[in-house]
Amino acid sequence: MQLKASFRNDYSEGAHPRLLQALVQASAEQNAGYGLDRHSARAAGLIVARCGQPQAQVHFLVGGTQTNLLAISAFLRPHEAVIAVESGHVATHETGAIEATGHKVLVTPHVDGKLTPDGVRTLLAANTSEHMVKPRLVYVSNTTELGTIYSKAELQALRALCDAHGLLFFLDGARIGSALTAAGNDLTLADIAALTHAFYIGGTKNGALLGEALVVVDPALQADLRYLIKQRGAMLAKGMVVGAQFEALFEDDLFFELGAHANAMAQRLQAGLKAAGTALLIESPSNQVFPVLTHAQIDGLVQVTAFERWGPYSETHAVIRFVTSWATRPEAVDALLTAIKNLVR
Ligand SMILES: Cc1ncc(COP(=O)(O)O)c(C=O)c1O
Repeated sequence: MQLKASFRNDYSEGAHPRLLQALVQASAEQNAGYGLDRHSARAAGLIVARCGQPQAQVHFLVGGTQTNLLAISAFLRPHEAVIAVESGHVATHETGAIEATGHKVLVTPHVDGKLTPDGVRTLLAANTSEHMVKPRLVYVSNTTELGTIYSKAELQALRALCDAHGLLFFLDGARIGSALTAAGNDLTLADIAALTHAFYIGGTKNGALLGEALVVVDPALQADLRYLIKQRGAMLAKGMVVGAQFEALFEDDLFFELGAHANAMAQRLQAGLKAAGTALLIESPSNQVFPVLTHAQIDGLVQVTAFERWGPYSETHAVIRFVTSWATRPEAVDALLTAIKNLVR
């Protein structure tokens, strides 16, 4: 039987009703264009206050790839390169968007999805002269592509290495709502702001219709960003569409409540899978879950719900990915678990 709910992604639904309400209200007003409206200003102020970095600049953009390429290309000189893990989103799933701006992405193996200081050191040691690109920016995402999260100590170690080698530290927060509310997380938004030169807060995957908030903490990186945003076609005339949503997300704890809900649904799913004896690629504390199933079980599951095929595991088994969202209902998780129990029985 086909279930109603899909577990393919955390952007399958539109927007949380409170954000839609905020949009209805804002669209009944006349607003200044190009992100200079009062909703964007208030949202930026709320984010800066949460970050505890009064000098930080906030720019509202539309999507993750756009935010990564805009920020990274703005921060680097022509010969400078990015350091990322092999599985990093900028290295694997952005159609070469960073490279298309002229900057190589140097990759190193990950450990549970994460970049390690040793990985950074290896790339620094391998790129030492003007015949090679110059590593200049360290890219991490939290959560990682494997749904894992960085600890404060891990980010501190990476930042210390960045400082020792004159590198910029950039964090892709497409799923930072899930990361900061995951079990075992010891970071706050203020910690992330203190530890990075720039990062972004993902709205698209955490209850917004669309939108990411780029937070540029280091004043040395802030000059002319609005010129670059406009030149790349990323400055929305109706910028309030993103600003009003971030205002609704951050005027109270809604942003964090939505991340916590998505995590709770994924943890319910992960616990049920384990109880049913299903192996996992990795134990994930966040809203992505990676079961290992036989090909026949996966073929059966395709008839039941939607999910991503993640990759091969062995001759007989493959990894799939389930993602839960701010809108996932517990009954939908339970129905999926029942279907899986029938398949693996
Ligand atoms: C960590 C991360 N960064 C960036 C992106 C890209 O976002 P978009 O699809 O909005 O360009 C994604 C999307 O899946 C992501 O997971």
